[in-house]
Amino acid sequence: MYRTHTCGELRQENVGAEVTLSGWVQRVRKLGGMTFVDLRDRYGITQLVVDDNAAQNIKDTVSHLGREYVINATGKVVERASKNSKIPTGSIEIILNDITILNKSELPPFTIEDDTDGGDDLRMKYRYLDLRRSVVRNNMILRHQIAFETRRYLDQMDFLEVETPILIGSTPEGARDFVVPSRMNLGHFYALPQSPQLFKQLLMVSGFDRYFQIAKCFRDEDLRADRQPEFTQIDCEMSFVEQEDVLLLFEGMVKHLFKFVKNVDFDSAFPRMTWHDAMKFYGSDKPDIRFEMKFVELKEAVSGRDFVVFDSASYVAGICAEGCASYTRKQIDELTEFVKRPQIGAKGLVYIRCEANGAFKSSVDKFYSPEDLKAIASMFNAKEGDLILILAGDKSKTQKALCELRLEMGARLGLRDKNIFKPLWVIDFPLFEWDEETQRFYAMHHPFTSPKPEDIQYLDSDPGRVRANAYDMVVNGVELGGGSIRIHDSQLQNKMFELLGFTPETAESQFGFLMNAFKYGAPPHGGLAFGLDRLVSLFAGLDSIRDCIAFPKNNSGRDVMTDAPSTISEEQLKELSLTIQPQK
Ligand code: AMO
Repeated sequence: MYRTHTCGELRQENVGAEVTLSGWVQRVRKLGGMTFVDLRDRYGITQLVVDDNAAQNIKDTVSHLGREYVINATGKVVERASKNSKIPTGSIEIILNDITILNKSELPPFTIEDDTDGGDDLRMKYRYLDLRRSVVRNNMILRHQIAFETRRYLDQMDFLEVETPILIGSTPEGARDFVVPSRMNLGHFYALPQSPQLFKQLLMVSGFDRYFQIAKCFRDEDLRADRQPEFTQIDCEMSFVEQEDVLLLFEGMVKHLFKFVKNVDFDSAFPRMTWHDAMKFYGSDKPDIRFEMKFVELKEAVSGRDFVVFDSASYVAGICAEGCASYTRKQIDELTEFVKRPQIGAKGLVYIRCEANGAFKSSVDKFYSPEDLKAIASMFNAKEGDLILILAGDKSKTQKALCELRLEMGARLGLRDKNIFKPLWVIDFPLFEWDEETQRFYAMHHPFTSPKPEDIQYLDSDPGRVRANAYDMVVNGVELGGGSIRIHDSQLQNKMFELLGFTPETAESQFGFLMNAFKYGAPPHGGLAFGLDRLVSLFAGLDSIRDCIAFPKNNSGRDVMTDAPSTISEEQLKELSLTIQPQK
C-alpha cells in the first residue's frame, strides 16, 4: 500500500497510529544524531524523523535522499516536542520504521517553496515543478472550485452544458483568428473560435433554451496581464429573455460564486451605470468603484484666461486626491512623468494644492486668481489638504490618461484593497464604435448585438447615437464578462451587416448559415460570457491571469515548456501544400 493518509491529514488525535505516507522530499535537515525530512504532497507537508535508534538501513536510505525524491515511508505518529503552528500537521511527526525510495530526482532548477528563487522564465520552462508549489497549486484548486460552483448554479437554473467545435470558420469578436490548415481541403483553413458566439445562438434556434459551456477561446491579439491568446470563458445563452432577465440571473451566479467559493455575501443588488456615465466620471468602460475620485469636467470653467493649454484643448478635466496637498515637488514631478509616459500620452499635468486657511497653490497661478482657484476647487468639493490634478487635450485620449492617473492615485492612497470587491453592471453601450484610422464604424460588442428599439430610428441618420442592449459585469475595474440581447430578426441582422460594411456576398459567405437558421424560427435570445481566468485571478488577488492557468503562454505568446509555436517539417508543409516565404 502506498499510503494510509495524505501528507496534510495527520493531527494530534492520530498520535500512536502506525501510518504510511508517500510524497516528495521537500527538505532534509540533520540535527545532531537526528534527521528530519519534510514530506510533501498535494495536501500538505508532514515531518518525518529518523532518530539514533532507527535501523541502519533506514539511516542509510535517508542519508541518500535528495530534494524532490519520491518516497514511501511508514512509521508511528508521535506528538512533537517543538510544535510548528504554521502548518496544519505541525503538532505531530512520524518516527520512521521503514522507507523506500520510489524514484530519484535531479536537483530541481529552483527551490520548490512558496518563496522560490526561480525567475519567471525558469518557472515557466519547468511549469510542472512550479505547479508543485502550494501558492500556484492553490490557484488551480480555486479555479476548480469556481468551475464546479458555476456548473452547480447553472445546472440548478436548467442550463445544459453543450460542447461546440474548435475547428470552425471565423467568428467576429474583433481580434485576429488563429488558423489551422486543412490537409483534406488543400488551400482551406479552419479558424479557432474567438468564442462560441454563433454556435450558442444556433443552439437557441434548436430550442435548447438555456446553454452554457466552459469553453476554450482563442484570440490572436496583443497580450496583457489580463489577456492570454488561449483563455477560458463561462459562455452562456438563454431564450425568451430581455436584458433584465439576463442581468438578474448572472448577478445571481456571481453572488453564488462569491458566497460558496469566497464566503463573501452581497446583500443588495449590484449597482448599474450607463456606459455614458462610466466614461464621463471614470474615463473607462470598466470603472474601479472601490473609490470615488470622480472626474470633474472643467472646460467651461477654465477657458478664456489666456492659458493656451486649456484654451486650445477640447476637453479639460480633473480629479481630487484627498489629503495629498502635502505632496512634494518631487512627488508631483513623478506624477507628471507618469502621465507623460508614451502609453499614457498626456502632455503635462496641472495641480492645485488646497492649503491651510483657504489658500491655494497651483502650477497655473499666473493665469488664475485665488478666487478662480477657489471656484474650481469648489467644483470638486475639495477640502483643505486636498490636491486637484488636471489634464487637458483631446477628449478620448485625455479621459484615458486621467483614468490611469486616477487608478495610480487610488493605488498610492491604498484605496484598491484586493480584499474588497465592488461589482458593477455597465449598461447601454453604444452599438457602434467609430474608427478614425479606417474611417468606418465597427460593432462595439459584435455584429449580433441588438440596438435598443427606441434608437433603431437613428441607424441610418446617426449610427453613433444608437445604444445597444449590451452589458458588462465589472468588478474592481476588471471586465469580468459581457454580453448582449441578440438580433433575432434576419432583416435587422442584414441591416447591421450593411452598416458594418459587409456586402451581401461577404455577409452570406461568413454568416450565411446563421441567416439561414434565422429563417426557421429564431426565438428572442441573449446571453453573456465571463472570463474564467479573470474571475479566478480576481478571487485569488493575482496580478496576472497567467498565475491561474496550469500551462500558460508567456508575453510573446510562447509556451516555453513545450517550445510552441515551432516550425514544422518539410513533409508536413508539403502535405498541406504550404510554402514558407523567407522573412524580409
Ligand atoms: P467578450 O469578447 O467581451 O464577449 O469576452 C467575454 C469575456 O471573456 C474574457 N476575455 C478574455 N480573457 C482572457 N484573455 C483574453 N484574451 C480575453 N478576451 C476576452 C473577458 C471578457 O469579458 N461572445 C461574446 C460574449 C457574448 O456576447 O455572449 C464575447 O466573447 O472576461
